[in-house]
Amino acid sequence: MRIVLGVGGGIAAYKVASLLRLFTEAGHDVTVIPTDAATRFVGVATWEALSGHPVSNSVFDEVHTVNHVRLGHEAELIVVAPATADLLARAATGQANDLLTNTLLMAGGPVLMAPAMHTEMWRHPATQANVETLRSRGITVLEPATGRLTGADSGPGRLPEPAAIFASSLALAGAPAVPNSPDLPASEPGSPAASGAGPLAGLTVTISAGGTREPLDPVRFLGNRSSGKQGVALAVAARAAGARVRLLAAHMDVPAPDGVELVEVETALELRKAALHAAADSDVIIMAAAVADFRPADVSGTKIKKRDDAADPVISLVRNPDILRELVEVRDAASRNQLIVGFAAETGDADGDVLEYAAAKLRRKACDLLVVNQVGKDRVFGQDSNDVVILARSGSEPQQASGSKSDVAAAVIDRISAELSRLVPPA
Ligand code: CTP
Repeated sequence: MRIVLGVGGGIAAYKVASLLRLFTEAGHDVTVIPTDAATRFVGVATWEALSGHPVSNSVFDEVHTVNHVRLGHEAELIVVAPATADLLARAATGQANDLLTNTLLMAGGPVLMAPAMHTEMWRHPATQANVETLRSRGITVLEPATGRLTGADSGPGRLPEPAAIFASSLALAGAPAVPNSPDLPASEPGSPAASGAGPLAGLTVTISAGGTREPLDPVRFLGNRSSGKQGVALAVAARAAGARVRLLAAHMDVPAPDGVELVEVETALELRKAALHAAADSDVIIMAAAVADFRPADVSGTKIKKRDDAADPVISLVRNPDILRELVEVRDAASRNQLIVGFAAETGDADGDVLEYAAAKLRRKACDLLVVNQVGKDRVFGQDSNDVVILARSGSEPQQASGSKSDVAAAVIDRISAELSRLVPPA
């Protein structure tokens, strides 16, 4: 897809370099148009090197090609990030004083703007009126994220994470996220999925399953005891409910079922990439995989050898991203009707019982449903039965389900169907 990436003059311009990488790695052809102010934060050379195209912000460059007309017409999607207060104002009032604003006036396809500014500027009635105007004209203006801003201040005004902008942009353009990714298999229309009748007919459900493995060297890894049985049972139940099912499979002891689209991953970072790609066209995401919270800081390219003349190695770990949390952030930034379900494996300890910990996890991760099970010796991992409590963020009564993993999967899918029917359809 041909994308124009407009970059506004805010400090968050540096994060847009990662957004550009996400687009190009997914196979899109991106022309970057920074404003003059943006080039004070990130130079033209960076945008040229990362996009592989010449970069200009002047309507007086390449005049013979009538650049702004060509770019505006050819772009299948225009993304502006960071959309500063000034840029929102110029776009809302139809100004045409640089190449980016000219191109916006010529836009024939969808336009998405990702604002970033200080909270006061975002809340100012002038900015809010400009956002309203732009939205009324069909432009998608994302809500800024909340958190630490450039100075000591914090509040709404942060640029949404590049992955969130990426997913929202692809969803807006109706681009199939997974097929465009070179290292993920394409979903074919009418293939495994798109089943017939059932409460989830017509919906796409992405399920992660199994346990991630974090390599230490070419032969060793840090892993966990997840067998993938519960995730596979969920995939079967979702398919039986009529959904098109995509299974993001980390290491599993059981085979993937027929009739699902299989994406195999190994590490938490691979799972994150696959999940964020899949999120763009998923109505439901179920994170049943046991994701390693940490990975070795260094991965040896060769087998680590024991040596008598040196100290035994010490493994340092670094934190993996919280994929579930990120999926919720991406969904919320795009204001999508998407149901996200987490799993919690808890043991309980002297400071709290399983349900107390689970309720805290539900608040922290902000997913819609949390399926909680108690783990321990001979409990859950690798077993054929399960005993869970389903907690809902909506505050409705916790629901218990037990029996075989298929019974539990059916209860979870039933609950998802019930929750979906409560979601307000998109305006
Ligand atoms: N999860 C995730 N990314 C991670 C870790 C976990 O998406 N890096 C997801 C799991 O797939 C599961 C849920 O988060 O749906 C809960 O995982 P769990 O390991 O039980 O929770 P943690 O976040 O690790 O919390 P704690 O360490 O407090 O148990």
